[in-house]
Amino acid sequence: MSRFNSTMAYPHFFFFFLLILLSSLSLSSSDYKGNHWGGDRFWFGVQTFGQGGDKHVSTERKIRKVSGGPNYYPEQLYQFALISTDSQPDLAYTIEVEPNKKFSVWLHFAEIDQQVTGVGKRVFDVLINGDVAFKDVDIAKMSGDLFTALVLNKTVVVSGRSLTITLHPTKGKHAIINAIEVFEVVRAESRTLTDEVKALHSLKKAIGLPVRLGWNGDPCVPQQHAWSGVDCLFDAHRFKWVIDGLDLDNQGLGGYVPKDIAKLHHLQSINFSGNSIRGGIPSTLGTVTSLETL
Ligand SMILES: *[C@@H]1O[C@H](CO)[C@@H](O)[C@H](O)[C@H]1NC(C)=O
Ligand SMILES: *[C@@H]1O[C@H](CO)[C@@H](O)[C@H](O)[C@H]1NC(C)=O
Repeated sequence: MSRFNSTMAYPHFFFFFLLILLSSLSLSSSDYKGNHWGGDRFWFGVQTFGQGGDKHVSTERKIRKVSGGPNYYPEQLYQFALISTDSQPDLAYTIEVEPNKKFSVWLHFAEIDQQVTGVGKRVFDVLINGDVAFKDVDIAKMSGDLFTALVLNKTVVVSGRSLTITLHPTKGKHAIINAIEVFEVVRAESRTLTDEVKALHSLKKAIGLPVRLGWNGDPCVPQQHAWSGVDCLFDAHRFKWVIDGLDLDNQGLGGYVPKDIAKLHHLQSINFSGNSIRGGIPSTLGTVTSLETL
């Protein structure tokens, strides 16, 4: 299983991310008692950022351009917002995070405040840990209208233990925000091609694989714990692991070679010698070049 150590294309050469939910914050009213609003997001409602520096506004009006797939956001998210006050024109929200991680921050807005009548009336900057993430945010302008959803996202690296989002008004006195999501960005582990996993399961059953050989979980992932006797190859094109060799010689195996083994399209070698496995390797495995069988 280690024979391709130097030539393998390992997945960490690729940047492929999966978003893990850390925290979703909806500045919603109390009628949402921990409801799951769409997808796997759990919206946690708050009425204030604290310190008496904000007030909230809400509307029953329909919100336009509430997003569709792949991210489904509920309309209610945009019908409640926090607005800063004269005493504290900036709106700031801090969450605790693990240091030295990458985060994807999603900010949800809709101009639902009666005081703002159109474009240019409320403009603010958004800072993340003091750095400007979005400059001159004008919700009415960017979303195209009042009562219209606007979603902004930014990926940031945070060195410390807190992530602070600050909205600083530059035109009009107050900032506004409807909801915040913060995700930790992690690399998705690519998996083994499903058909090939199925084929290995058929083989496991057909040859009565001894328990000591395991063969549980994903055959190739994690690579340090690839299934014994299974050689894996990373297919960078499909972004999946595939099986390119089976070294099961002298394992005291019996049973037979199942038809499904033909699904292992990437096999380069099979060694079943020293066992008492019945049957042959299907001719459909046309690409197998160095079969050392039975
Ligand atoms: C996230 O932000 C980037 C950069 O502003 C933008 O191009 C992209 O469309 C945004 N993604 C979504 C789903 O809104
Ligand atoms: C297959 O296994 C046998 C027995 O361990 C070994 O002698 C043989 O060299 C192996 N064949 C290949 C092609 O590795």
